[in-house]
Amino acid sequence: MTLRGNIFISVLGVLFCLFVGVLSGFSSVPEQQRRTQSLDGKWSLSNSNGSLSLPAEVPGCVHSALQQQGFIQDPYFRFNDVSYRWIALDNWTYTTTFNVVAQARTKQKVLLAFEGVDTVASIWLNGVIVGNTDNMFRRYDFAVRHLLKDGDNVLKVSLLSPVLYASQRRDAHSAYRVPPECPPDVQKGECHVNFIRKEQSSFSWDWGPSFPTMGLWKGVRLEAFDVLQLIQVSSVPLYNFSLSQWRVQVELLVDAVQTTNGQITVSVPELGSEQTFRTQFLSGETKNTFILHINTSSQVKLWWPNRHGDQPFYQLTVRGFQDGFLILNTKSKVYFRTVELVQEPVVGSPGLSFYFRINGKPIFLKGSNWIPAHSFQDQISPAVLRNLLQSAVDANMNTLRVWGGGVYEQDLFYSICDELGIMIWQDFMFACAMYPTESDFIQTVREEVVQQVRRLKSHPSIIIWSGNNENEAALATDWFSIPASQRPLYVKDYVTLYVNNIREIVQDEDQSRPFLVSSPTNGAESEQEGWVAANPYDPHYGDTHFYSYIHDCWDWRAFPRTRFASEYGFQSWPSFSTLQPVSVKEDWSYDSNFTSHRQHHADGNQQMLLQAASHFNLPNSTDPLKRFTDTLYITQVMQAQCVKTQTEFYRRSQTEIIEGKGHTMGALYWQLNDIWQAPSWSSIEFGGKWKMLHYFAQNFFAAILPVGFEDEDTLFIYAVSDLSHDLKLRAVVTVYSWTDLDPVCSLKSDPLLVPGGSAVAIFKQPVADLLAGCGRCTRLTCLLTFHLEDSGGQQGPTNHHFLCSPKDAQGLQRPNITAKVQQDKTGLTVTLHSASVAAFVWLDVGDIPGRFSSNGFLMVSRNMTVSFTAWRQTSVAELSRSLTITSLTDVY
Ligand SMILES: *[C@@H]1O[C@H](CO)[C@@H](O)[C@H](O)[C@H]1NC(C)=O
Ligand SMILES: *[C@@H]1O[C@H](CO)[C@@H](O)[C@H](O)[C@H]1NC(C)=O
Ligand SMILES: *[C@@H]1O[C@H](CO)[C@@H](O)[C@H](O)[C@H]1NC(C)=O
Ligand SMILES: *[C@@H]1O[C@H](CO)[C@@H](O)[C@H](O)[C@H]1NC(C)=O
Ligand SMILES: *[C@@H]1O[C@H](CO)[C@@H](O)[C@H](O)[C@H]1NC(C)=O
Ligand SMILES: *[C@@H]1O[C@H](CO)[C@@H](O)[C@H](O)[C@H]1NC(C)=O
Ligand SMILES: *[C@@H]1O[C@H](CO)[C@@H](O)[C@H](O)[C@H]1NC(C)=O
Repeated sequence: MTLRGNIFISVLGVLFCLFVGVLSGFSSVPEQQRRTQSLDGKWSLSNSNGSLSLPAEVPGCVHSALQQQGFIQDPYFRFNDVSYRWIALDNWTYTTTFNVVAQARTKQKVLLAFEGVDTVASIWLNGVIVGNTDNMFRRYDFAVRHLLKDGDNVLKVSLLSPVLYASQRRDAHSAYRVPPECPPDVQKGECHVNFIRKEQSSFSWDWGPSFPTMGLWKGVRLEAFDVLQLIQVSSVPLYNFSLSQWRVQVELLVDAVQTTNGQITVSVPELGSEQTFRTQFLSGETKNTFILHINTSSQVKLWWPNRHGDQPFYQLTVRGFQDGFLILNTKSKVYFRTVELVQEPVVGSPGLSFYFRINGKPIFLKGSNWIPAHSFQDQISPAVLRNLLQSAVDANMNTLRVWGGGVYEQDLFYSICDELGIMIWQDFMFACAMYPTESDFIQTVREEVVQQVRRLKSHPSIIIWSGNNENEAALATDWFSIPASQRPLYVKDYVTLYVNNIREIVQDEDQSRPFLVSSPTNGAESEQEGWVAANPYDPHYGDTHFYSYIHDCWDWRAFPRTRFASEYGFQSWPSFSTLQPVSVKEDWSYDSNFTSHRQHHADGNQQMLLQAASHFNLPNSTDPLKRFTDTLYITQVMQAQCVKTQTEFYRRSQTEIIEGKGHTMGALYWQLNDIWQAPSWSSIEFGGKWKMLHYFAQNFFAAILPVGFEDEDTLFIYAVSDLSHDLKLRAVVTVYSWTDLDPVCSLKSDPLLVPGGSAVAIFKQPVADLLAGCGRCTRLTCLLTFHLEDSGGQQGPTNHHFLCSPKDAQGLQRPNITAKVQQDKTGLTVTLHSASVAAFVWLDVGDIPGRFSSNGFLMVSRNMTVSFTAWRQTSVAELSRSLTITSLTDVY
């Protein structure tokens, strides 16, 4: 028997590993009664005039198939994004031929199910159209029993160019424009992406290329059954605060051939909870809800965010019987936790608080924003996902925001976040645009939202739903020059889409977590103002996004003292080893065509140098390649230092109210990861390599952090603690001369109480007094390091404060750092020896995948050892050969 003709016993379900048996006339072997036949694998693919015809993997996409079959080069190579623009302007057809065993065709219902079609397609079985698709974010199924036959069945999916479709839809919407029409030229993208329910960044973004994908990006299969099939199980624990009682809302999404009576038993055995319900599954696709009361609520072990506790789960079982026969049997994970978004008056401050309480505990959200990890979703391996998410945790993050211009991520993404304790701020996929509200658009969005909420709501990691990215702000602050007379029309469309449709559905489907209409938003205040606030960036309410490339980023006065910073950041370039595979020698200069081609943010390359030049000497080597790689380095130094300064400002603003502003409870910088090899705001390069910023994040997101800054020439040190318990901490300040590795002097503050979850000023002294007390120091000749300690020793990382820009520092020398790579039983280590104080010491091992324990650091000791965690087999010899060391003075 060929594999293709095989019929497999079902293992179904998107979220969970389910095992389902459906009763039919052949009751002796009930588990085999429901038959699933995967249609994944090799299909054939051709373009509209038939000039190209090739095998194509499903799941997959046209670009991946063309590359795998050698029709095109790596789409990320040099200028290929523009060279391959034709691919998305053509129409493509996927075809497969399959056999179906007779037994499956005798089932009462046979469905052809598509987990994901990208995007606009007509689907043909044996020459008959079975349906159309227009939304990448929906699952589609079609009843096809009557069309199946003996022998070969031919399934064809004809995909229309998404670029053409978007422009046709825009033309059909003639009454008024729905901006933006096109992306800025610098993005080299396609127009009208807001008219198609597809990854919005696939038509280009300010950090990403235009690859409007087409394909079957998720699995395809046949489902044959007689009584019913279970499409999905979800479980949402709900907590009654006044009774201190848990209950679990279990929902079964079932497709029944006809109305079926049965008995459902739901249990969490480990908590001694089990309940049986008589039920009726109505004919067709229905949602059936059961509430399991947990009578042992006080024993429930809770799921906690990373570093606040563990992530325990319980096994939930659901069994269904009809007339004594097992018709349904599934097991899934259930995690217990509560989430509240607290918006209430703040003493001493106009406006409302904005913070998350998890299991009753206020938690400062630390992390970043997630974008699609690849232009071609089929090329994201589980290992890549796991590595990126583990890197987030390794940098002491507890939150990622799945940004609204990408995709609702795959199940594995959320399962890993559940396991690692990463909280997810989940946007719906609308970004930086107005959207149409024709009834077919609204209908497809409604189905998308229902399906996605049902798919994802069992994940404790998701702590909030958010309707869109920046569309409230776009409307409020008029990004698109909408005439005042027309504004009400756009506000009405906005409210229709996000409030009357998306919000309504989410609140109906999921009572276990908050919903926000946009980000940034003023939250409750925006609602008061008719959902579009006059100023959605108001620091007294909700969350803010803040970018400024012109201000000196070392000056914290430029930053908004917001309740919650959900986006902020600075660009940098990835390292040379990441760029090298997609470029050639002539590209390797900061003013090459390649360098400007990859920059999708207007003036971005110039802004990075300007920002860097305010504090550092820019690279000026006469060796062009060294000058290029040094420039990549200096952009990373600038970015790391800028985001550090800003994040530390947010963390130290956690407790205070100053001039009516403060109580900041979140810092999510833009952005965690990259979609290709290009300059961007990311802290992790395409391929997984950590930029200097990501190493800095390890420290600036540490649970206990000393933050130093100056206000009117007075040095302040704050102790920030995310712990649950109080500490008694003192600050220890050490003053170094740039010329000398031995400290000039050292000061200690008196111990002070630092309550858990607070930021406390612990040290304060005018810089002039501090330096005078230290003898031979001036702002230009000295710098400070500082840390916190209690009776048990140092708590948290050591931090530093520059008293002048390093470019003005007197006595900063070439440190002539030497390194020795060794291997012992703990792994690979690099021991450095420095002849003088060295700033932003950067170890680079080229394309050897892995990370150092620390990098980009200030070296104020002669010797220092860091370890290297390799992500593949490597050796002392290979590491030594690849290792380069750069510090600030090595670039000029
Ligand atoms: C067929 O389509 C391809 C891709 O759009 C195009 O390059 C080619 O010229 C076309 N061939 C003919 C014969 O029209
Ligand atoms: C793609 O299909 C559309 C709709 O049938 C058609 O208008 C268009 O010309 C086709 N494009 C190509 C390149 O054949
Ligand atoms: C559990 O609690 C529910 C609601 O309070 C109650 O109806 C049920 O009988 C209890 N079950 C057991 C086994 O005590
Ligand atoms: C850079 O691009 C411009 C404009 O496309 C072109 O004229 C020039 O020849 C290119 N330079 C190099 C070195 O490729
Ligand atoms: C580093 O080496 C250079 C060149 O040999 C030398 O001039 C300089 O003094 C050295 N730096 C230190 C801190 O010793
Ligand atoms: C520091 O490193 C140097 C050179 O590797 C070595 O000679 C010296 O013994 C080390 N000093 C200490 C304190 O480890
Ligand atoms: C590079 O810049 C530094 C610092 O401004 C200067 O001292 C040095 O002479 C410059 N080198 C070259 C090759 O221009």
